[in-house]
Amino acid sequence: VATPKTVIWTPDPHTKAKHQILSGYLDAYFPIVTKQFSDAGVAFIDAFSGPGEYEDGSDGSPIIALESARASVGGNSTTPLKFIFIEKERDRFDHLADLLTQRTLPATTTIESRHGHCADVLTPLIDELEITNWPMFVNCDGWGVDTPYTLIEAVSRTKRPEVMVTISTQWFMRFADTTEGAAGDKVFGDASWRQVANVPTTEKKRWLVERYRRRLADAGFEFQLTFELVDEMGHPLFLIFGTHSVHGVEKMKDSMWRVDSSSGSRFRDPRDPNQTAFDLSDSEPTLEVLEGQILEHLGRSGVQSLKNLQEFALRETIFKKTHAVKAVTRLETLNKVTAQHAKAYKNYMVTLADPSLF
Ligand SMILES: C[S@@+](CC[C@H](N)C(=O)[O-])C[C@H]1O[C@@H](n2cnc3c(N)ncnc32)[C@H](O)[C@@H]1O
Repeated sequence: VATPKTVIWTPDPHTKAKHQILSGYLDAYFPIVTKQFSDAGVAFIDAFSGPGEYEDGSDGSPIIALESARASVGGNSTTPLKFIFIEKERDRFDHLADLLTQRTLPATTTIESRHGHCADVLTPLIDELEITNWPMFVNCDGWGVDTPYTLIEAVSRTKRPEVMVTISTQWFMRFADTTEGAAGDKVFGDASWRQVANVPTTEKKRWLVERYRRRLADAGFEFQLTFELVDEMGHPLFLIFGTHSVHGVEKMKDSMWRVDSSSGSRFRDPRDPNQTAFDLSDSEPTLEVLEGQILEHLGRSGVQSLKNLQEFALRETIFKKTHAVKAVTRLETLNKVTAQHAKAYKNYMVTLADPSLF
């Protein structure tokens, strides 16, 4: 992966979408957790903070997070908010430090910036700052091959952690059977990912994403949400979100579905075998992918209530609960499922019209 060497750089097309997702999520996250954990505090950790801005003048993730807290909570809360920024390149670290001194912070907000490798810095810092009982959102936005699994494990031991990890599957496909693959072992926490070398080419990407989800689950992140951003050149980038809270999954999806089409990225559900890319918008989402996933799910599991299908959509796909209702209604119109309308209409049972197809 060619990575920028300069202090600041031109953002790639994925960056805008990534930032819209982050700020949309934090706008919902900060007000909820500052209220819920008012007797403790709330931490936002940028393990790969970068310099804080881009060559085109747009904000980097540390500034986006501070701005989201200011706009969504401001001075309306007495809950301590701690922002932890870690950056390994000295010049980028200094650049961010300069930007931070220009900002006025609410009295409840503190910033801890550290120069160094997040793998070395973060775990002792969590102890030193005594924030193990605080909810924390940890942004692991490296170059796609650099979030150590040991860091994920350390974060998972705190009280209410959430992580968002950037993963570049291209690298893992390329280096699975080479000595450079050692960097991948650190990300997955073991060498199991290298089995990708034996997976058929068309399945590799999906397989790797599933493997990483599994590793987040192994670390204790009960819910994982993955989505793929695709730029104009077709380069994929995965964002994998891990949380203990199904509410967190819902809020992350809301944010993702608000990303505007001008972000230059399209989305793919990594679990869609047809790998359909589409734009996200709340008004007219493309639901064919979800319809296919629901049919497949019904084929595997038999009759399901609408509520279960909504849960399935929420937990197992990139779609929202509301999309499941629309998809089922359309499948019914297409005579692909039959819906047995029970008294509690909102929770009727759904079966495949022709189970022999699955
Ligand atoms: C993709 S950029 C981060 C962009 C930033 N999150 C944003 O959205 O504005 C990755 C940054 O992580 C830094 N970095 C790479 N490896 C690191 C490590 N092990 N620990 C801390 N920082 C690291 C790089 O120098 C680079 O500035």
